[in-house]
Amino acid sequence: MAQPLFSLDGQSLITPQSVSNQFPSPHHDNQTDLLRTAEAEFAIIINIAMQRFGAGKDLPGAVRWLIGQLHDIRQKFGAVVWQKLIPFIQAHSSSKILQQCPFTRWSFEKPRGYSGDASLIDFIYGHPAVAEEVARSTLLGLDIFEYTINAPGPIAVRERRDILTRYVDDTAAQTGSDTEVLAIAAGHLREAEASKALAEGRLKRWVALDQDPQSIGSIASQFHGTSVEPIDGSVRGLLARKHQLGTFDLIYAAGLYDYLADKVAIRLTQICMEMLKPGGVFLFANFSDEMADDGYMESYMNWELLQRSEADMWRIADASAAENTVEKTVWFGANRNIIYATIRKLP
Ligand SMILES: C[S@@+](CC[C@H](N)C(=O)[O-])C[C@H]1O[C@@H](n2cnc3c(N)ncnc32)[C@H](O)[C@@H]1O
Repeated sequence: MAQPLFSLDGQSLITPQSVSNQFPSPHHDNQTDLLRTAEAEFAIIINIAMQRFGAGKDLPGAVRWLIGQLHDIRQKFGAVVWQKLIPFIQAHSSSKILQQCPFTRWSFEKPRGYSGDASLIDFIYGHPAVAEEVARSTLLGLDIFEYTINAPGPIAVRERRDILTRYVDDTAAQTGSDTEVLAIAAGHLREAEASKALAEGRLKRWVALDQDPQSIGSIASQFHGTSVEPIDGSVRGLLARKHQLGTFDLIYAAGLYDYLADKVAIRLTQICMEMLKPGGVFLFANFSDEMADDGYMESYMNWELLQRSEADMWRIADASAAENTVEKTVWFGANRNIIYATIRKLP
């Protein structure tokens, strides 16, 4: 893993422990026995998967099957055993094969020094910015990639980008030329590429805040001359009210809450509510606890996320502001792999 070129603010660091706390471990007197059983089950599964890879037929189908099996093992053996199984899976020779997939490799190697950087999401978006990296892959890697980026999680991430574009455009349609939008953890702000309101100059400003100077640089050059305002900033800065950003009609955070423990998530939500104009909306998204790709992501991709249930989302939303000052909803995306909360500040 490369060293990040900036200092991580520590607010979005999740540990294996914080992930483990999220899903139960079955009671078992001898966790060592259980781990041996899990290792044996993994050995059978990976043997079958490797035979299917070797046969060279329907490789995406084989990857789909493997991802499903890893999800089932994770669920079946629980957090304690699963955390111990992860290094075992990563050390297995199959890891080198699956890392021929450019998306899996980028996630595992973390060239920007941290998990879930904006370039990783560009693989999911099929963005030209990562086309060279994809083109460098082996044929086998491309076959694997064909499934990994079309797995339920990535499908939900592409839908999330489109939902964000729609929220911005709808807000502009309702608010008029004074529309002010804030994207927190903006990454490369890919949702702006399809925004009609931005293209037609109907936004007053679209502030895009991210901790990673490389992402901020990418936004600055791509959206130069538009109402997009990139800001090199962090969750920590927002919590400390260091960034004087003013108020907004729409604030959103996608691909961020998955890395925030509850306490930070609640505090950030409260701060965002304070930055909303009356009638403004705050939206945050999180991978849901129904996501299907978790076992593959946590092992072969070394990408750990905090999944949240409907109740978890409500707990954060409910703590955001006094009950009679807001309207709240929690809803799922189409395949239920991502869950959203929207909170409207009553006028
Ligand atoms: C998974 S990407 C999501 C990018 C974009 N929102 C999207 O949906 O495509 C996560 C982004 O969050 C940013 N990020 C993570 N922790 C952060 C923090 N504590 N403060 C500011 N940005 C953060 C990362 O730099 C990265 O660009």
